Amino acid sequence: MSKNFKRILITAALPYANGKIHLGHLAGAYLPADIYARYQRSMGRDVLFVCGSDEHGVPITITAEQEKTTPQVVVDRYHFQNKKVFEDFGMSFDNYSRTTLPIHHETAREFFTVLYKSNILRSKKEKQLYDEKAQMFLPDRYVEGTCPSCKNPDARGDQCEKCGTFLNPTELINPKSKITGERPTVRETNHFYFPLGKYQERLQNYISEANKRDGWKPNVLQYCQSWFNDGLQDRAVTRDLNWGVKVPLDGFDNKVLYVWFEAVLGYISSTKEWAEKIGKPDEWKKYWLDDSTKYVAFIGKDNVVFHCIVFPAILMAWNDNNSIKYILPENVPANEFLNYEGQKFSKSRGWGIDVDEFLKYYPADTLRYTLTMNLPESRDADFYWKDFQSRTNNELADILGNFVNRTIIFTIKNYDGKIPSKNSLQTEDEEMVKKMDEARYLAGECFEKYKFRDGTLEIMNLARQANKYFNDSEPWKIIRTDPEQCATKINICLEIVRTLAILFEPIMPVTSQKIWKMLNLPGMPSLTGWNQAGKFGLIEGSKLNEPLILFKKIENNDIQNHISDDVMTEKENVSAINYEPVKPVITFDEFKKIDLRVAKVIDAQTVPKSEKLIKIKISIGNEERQIVAGIAQHYKPENLIGRKIIVVVNLQPAKLMGNESNGMLLAASNSSGKLSLLILDKDIEEGSVVK
Ligand code: 2FM
Ligand code: ZN
Repeated sequence: MSKNFKRILITAALPYANGKIHLGHLAGAYLPADIYARYQRSMGRDVLFVCGSDEHGVPITITAEQEKTTPQVVVDRYHFQNKKVFEDFGMSFDNYSRTTLPIHHETAREFFTVLYKSNILRSKKEKQLYDEKAQMFLPDRYVEGTCPSCKNPDARGDQCEKCGTFLNPTELINPKSKITGERPTVRETNHFYFPLGKYQERLQNYISEANKRDGWKPNVLQYCQSWFNDGLQDRAVTRDLNWGVKVPLDGFDNKVLYVWFEAVLGYISSTKEWAEKIGKPDEWKKYWLDDSTKYVAFIGKDNVVFHCIVFPAILMAWNDNNSIKYILPENVPANEFLNYEGQKFSKSRGWGIDVDEFLKYYPADTLRYTLTMNLPESRDADFYWKDFQSRTNNELADILGNFVNRTIIFTIKNYDGKIPSKNSLQTEDEEMVKKMDEARYLAGECFEKYKFRDGTLEIMNLARQANKYFNDSEPWKIIRTDPEQCATKINICLEIVRTLAILFEPIMPVTSQKIWKMLNLPGMPSLTGWNQAGKFGLIEGSKLNEPLILFKKIENNDIQNHISDDVMTEKENVSAINYEPVKPVITFDEFKKIDLRVAKVIDAQTVPKSEKLIKIKISIGNEERQIVAGIAQHYKPENLIGRKIIVVVNLQPAKLMGNESNGMLLAASNSSGKLSLLILDKDIEEGSVVK
């Protein structure tokens, strides 16, 4: 850890109790948070990991209205469902709370009161949309209309999902009430505002200092910077609504605290609830009020502004006006989004798979592993069923499972299930032992830096190398020709099995525990601790347990069923809409004017400051040139190098963001933005003509 912290407080975004948890949520915030918590516990650190349901806010009241029930019924349903799903997925929360609990209402009201009494909050009359028919003010999400920025006709009152612009409902073009469908009128209403702008300089300093100490992710810093560039504005902290934390002032009967203002405080109340549950009601203070605690807040990218700007500003405002001082997040390692089979998860379109559904078919650990290997740590990533199948079969079963299994079975068959003794180590044995220790070090370094994918790659690499070591050692031969060497090598393989159990525990806790059991070791891997991985820890002569199957291979048929259930139906829908009309007929001579060639990608790099562009160096046989293509959201530059693509080579050169583009690659894209490069089905040399 960067500073001399004594303990770590970990929070994961409180999910809205308005829907089920899907794979995208897991990859965005929950799985990384859990890996981090489990890893830090294994490091022997004092860790507290809290979460809970975010149970207020307008979306919940809209659901309740649609279902003709009460918001309480809605949040009860999703709170218990999601809590159970998190348990089944192996989340190791110390507490999973809910913001409808009195302890949270008290905490949120206390914050509001301190800020109010310190004259931080400003009361302002503002114009707001009012539904005359329903006789109520319309909170932002109760209004829909056209985005003034990108003209998306389905923008919500608080934000346009298409272009990301934050909006005031009054800014919408052609606003419509979601309750009655009527065009709302404008009325005046009184609200409290938090003067975010006043904190801008301190927030910038805070982020820059925390970044220096703990290395914030570039994407998070970029989001914050764009907010700072725009200049922070006052933000309303109250809403006209009946569902939420009541504003603790007379004359504000139909107003509640804005859900984002109080939801972030849910982390504090969840910690308070935990302290009460363990019978030490003051214990929460150790985690929130002591600056020797490192606080790390895991979230998805859509929550950055609230966690990096709004929440710290609220805490600063409290700290300025109170003798009790809260700590601020030392890091907010937000992930980008995970897509599902190439498209955004979408509840309304039924696109994606919920975690409870997934876990009906496959064990949590295989999902945890696949998601870890596809975490959207620096850019959006995808869940593909085919990838899930291949990771399960080719990596988990064929590499990890195979190595553990063959080592245990060999020991049972040849050494009566007892751990054979080490004798003198040959060079290859010493090298293997060194790799075992290096894997612990390298993976630990990655996990400390929130690079969970890279860390897991290191661990899987150890299993890969261990398989090779087993093969190269040929124990089935040397058991007869050189029994001492054989015993040494099998002993080392068993030590690697033990190390793998410890290192994989944050990623696949159930599997690790199974391996631990096979080795007949007491307790659990994380109690033995991360730093014992890579060391010799087995007792020679002690007896192993029977082998257990770690991973079941997934058949093509299984995967196909899921793809056709969840994906194909959607694909049909997609293809049914928005086909571009066929263009007017052209002659063959006109077509011949387009010079299409096979090109080989020699180099590819992202274009700085552009989300979409990649700069590609291609060879067309007798010539090399540069093209710039808008495919960065679909392909990683490193995955393009060496591939053969189709390029229009006689297109007039153009400049894109200052980069010369001499040609254009061919790709297909559908109406929902999915994009696929045109590739060849046989290898053919670059420069070949396409006709
Ligand atoms: O995005 C969401 O699901 C929010 N409910 C996250 C809230 S995090 C914190 F503020 F509680
Ligand atoms: Zn827009």
